[in-house]
Amino acid sequence: MRLADKVAIITGSAQGIGKGTAKLFAQEGAKVVVADIDATRGPETVEEIRAAGGEAAFVHTDVEQEDAIKEMVRFAIDRYGKLNVLMNNAYWNKGGTVVDLERADWDKSVNVMVRAVYLGSKHAIPHLIQAGGGSIINTASVHGYLAAARSAAYEASKAAVINLSREIAVDFGPQGIRCNAICPGWIITERGEEMLKRHPEAYDRNIQFYPVRRGGRPIDIAYGALFLASDESTFVTGHALVIDGGLTCWLQDSLGYHLEGYFKGQTQ
Ligand SMILES: NC(=O)c1ccc[n+]([C@@H]2O[C@H](COP(=O)([O-])OP(=O)(O)OC[C@H]3O[C@@H](n4cnc5c(N)ncnc54)[C@H](O)[C@@H]3O)[C@@H](O)[C@H]2O)c1
Repeated sequence: MRLADKVAIITGSAQGIGKGTAKLFAQEGAKVVVADIDATRGPETVEEIRAAGGEAAFVHTDVEQEDAIKEMVRFAIDRYGKLNVLMNNAYWNKGGTVVDLERADWDKSVNVMVRAVYLGSKHAIPHLIQAGGGSIINTASVHGYLAAARSAAYEASKAAVINLSREIAVDFGPQGIRCNAICPGWIITERGEEMLKRHPEAYDRNIQFYPVRRGGRPIDIAYGALFLASDESTFVTGHALVIDGGLTCWLQDSLGYHLEGYFKGQTQ
């Protein structure tokens, strides 16, 4: 029970990484507010948590709307009396280069992935301070460090989330607030499974880029978030925790040799 007596809000927790984290947090004793725009899958996440003996509640939240974010925080306080952890995790993105991305799609991507981190933190921090301190966890990405093709809004947003996390850590550390980012590599969520159904060959190809030779699962990120949410990490703040199976730890030219099979028998 590493989160016994803690109250946590997780945005974008109707599915994927957020859902996996909500389930683990509840299993470790937290009361979890599942905040999501998806009014079907969100309550299903809550039902799953309750069926496993945990405590959770759903609040319908569009993180693009400041009023909805205020209501999300208010809901947690009304329901559970306090707030200890906020995980800003919701995801919406439109791919494209800076030339072909429509401005409305850029705005929506950045609103959901960055502005919502600002607004969620803005409205949660006073309550975290009131609770004697707290932990903010922002889901960034390895794309916050390195660039992929045709992904302008995503790359910009995730880099912003990493440095905004450091900035919040600096500003509110003296008041007991810790703020960290998590940078996942490829995590196979429900969305990823749909993609793999369409392109089953992609899995074997993609895992060649991962020294651990597998794709990640939501639970891999949930364990990192659990550490950052718990009192085990009270000396950890302003950190960007890369959880990527080694994707970003090897040089691309040596990766090229590996893919070409130059070192066959040595690197497998
Ligand atoms: N899956 C990966 O491979 C991967 C890799 C690196 C980083 N990430 C990051 O992890 C986080 C979660 O990603 P995921 O793959 O689990 O996503 P997902 O698409 O499986 O889930 C995203 C959730 O966000 C919700 N959402 C979308 N718009 C919203 C809004 N306006 N308000 C509230 N909720 C909204 C969706 O309903 C959904 O439940 C994201 O920040 C993503 O960038 C994911």
